[in-house]
Amino acid sequence: MTEPRIPTTTDSGQPVDSDQHSLTVGPAGPILLQDSYLIEQMAQFNRERIPERQPHAKGSGAFGRFEVTADVSAYTAATVFQPGQVTDVAARFSTVAGERGSPDTWRDPRGFALKLYTPDGIYDMVGNNTPIFFVKDPMKFQHFIRSQKRRADSNLRDHDMQWDFWTLSPESAHQVTWLMGDRGIPRTWRHMNGYSSHTYLWLNAAGERFWVKYTFKTDQGVEFFTQHEADQMAAVDTDYHVRDLFEHIRDGEFPSWTLFVQIMPFDQAKDYRFNPFDLTKVWPHGDYPLIEVGRLTLDRNPTDNHTEIEQLAFQPNNLVPGIGPSPDRMLLARLFSYADAHRARLGANYQQIPVNAPTCPVHSYSKDGAMRVVKVSDPVYAPNSYGGPAADVERAGPMATWHADGDLMRSAYVDHAEDDDWGQAGVLVREVMDDAARERLVDNVVGHLLNGVSEPVLRRAFDYWSNVDADLGKRIEDGVRAKAGARDPKAAEQANPARTSAQEKA
Ligand code: HEM
Repeated sequence: MTEPRIPTTTDSGQPVDSDQHSLTVGPAGPILLQDSYLIEQMAQFNRERIPERQPHAKGSGAFGRFEVTADVSAYTAATVFQPGQVTDVAARFSTVAGERGSPDTWRDPRGFALKLYTPDGIYDMVGNNTPIFFVKDPMKFQHFIRSQKRRADSNLRDHDMQWDFWTLSPESAHQVTWLMGDRGIPRTWRHMNGYSSHTYLWLNAAGERFWVKYTFKTDQGVEFFTQHEADQMAAVDTDYHVRDLFEHIRDGEFPSWTLFVQIMPFDQAKDYRFNPFDLTKVWPHGDYPLIEVGRLTLDRNPTDNHTEIEQLAFQPNNLVPGIGPSPDRMLLARLFSYADAHRARLGANYQQIPVNAPTCPVHSYSKDGAMRVVKVSDPVYAPNSYGGPAADVERAGPMATWHADGDLMRSAYVDHAEDDDWGQAGVLVREVMDDAARERLVDNVVGHLLNGVSEPVLRRAFDYWSNVDADLGKRIEDGVRAKAGARDPKAAEQANPARTSAQEKA
């Protein structure tokens, strides 16, 4: 005996008399405009797609919780980080450059974005799986992303354009070294760390200030794909990382990460050997060791990817009392950019979409606009004498602030004692990588450079890598010259990127 089925309705709830046949004039006649159900099906279908995120279009996510396992109350008063606190979390992982249907195993940084539903409002930690970034001034971010996306003429991605930008932007060296190394293709999202990358400000209950960087260390261990493994996987399963996360959570194997922070006393920033707000630099653990905070566990899959993940909207300006921004220019620009992107992609009232809505009460003075569903009530202005919400400086806590003055100008950061573009990248190559990892780095860079990079850009790339490490630069140049010569003397200059990569895969 079959179970009774729930009756189909239209979007307005009226019962539908057929899921299979349009309304027609006789069995061979035309369909009718009065078939509202058919028209609703066609019209809704035509509007199912929303614009994809500009960067980070391909990704997926899950839900879980963040539990505080240690006591960092000496550094922050944020409720979310107080001992024993458990907070619901939404997480999304992503690649940066590829479109919504692109392979998960392309070499790229991975997004590591968390939304924490705290009692003091939403706290978004929108990081990557690398502790650093390609550029340090937001003026260059848009140009960097365009160099990673598609050409205007062929609509193809183009390694010449990527290396042209990188070699003209030497501050990218540290991040490009990470990207071309093993961390450039995580085996799965479960096998990668997450980083705030930026420095933030923490304030404790007494209003004392600390600079802080976050590291979410994977409890599954860091694992990677070689370029060959990743290429094969891209051909077999473009959604490998999406599938891996979904299936492990479905099967009860919940991934987790342990959150550590590095804490720098407020006054040490000025004279630290690296500019602590420069996004292309790490703070070596020897200077600022990792301090445990808590554990992130993902244990629930979305049931509707569109409403719960595609419409999930992270914004680094979602900060809560006890946590503030730092003078990192990239971070300060991001405080504007994301909410602007959401208004364009999802509409002005995107914060009312359930997955984006805070779980604490909202008493804002925003009103109206397209798709507003939460009702507002009078009074609709402040200040007022009719009992409307009033700002409470006690609840907001001490202001996250630092001293700034000077003439208006466009300039680079002031360098600290050991700031340069190559130093930390060289340390990564010489002191963090072992021989086998360095060998894979050389192979990855050589393979990438052989893929349609023109001779002038190639020469700049050899200099770039020699600046990172002289021996590495020589090995890369020798590798490119040997392989280009073996294939075709003009290959490096003239290769069609798409054709070359298809040939290499074949
Ligand atoms: C996504 C802008 C730097 C991590 C995005 C989006 C924009 C954007 C517009 C798409 C948002 C959406 O439509 O939902 C910028 C700008 C930057 C910058 C202007 C620098 C000035 C960074 C950095 C990181 C980062 C340094 C990591 C530390 C992410 C992540 C996402 C994202 C993880 C995807 C979030 C999600 O899963 O929905 N970025 N970004 N971005 N960005 Fe950035």
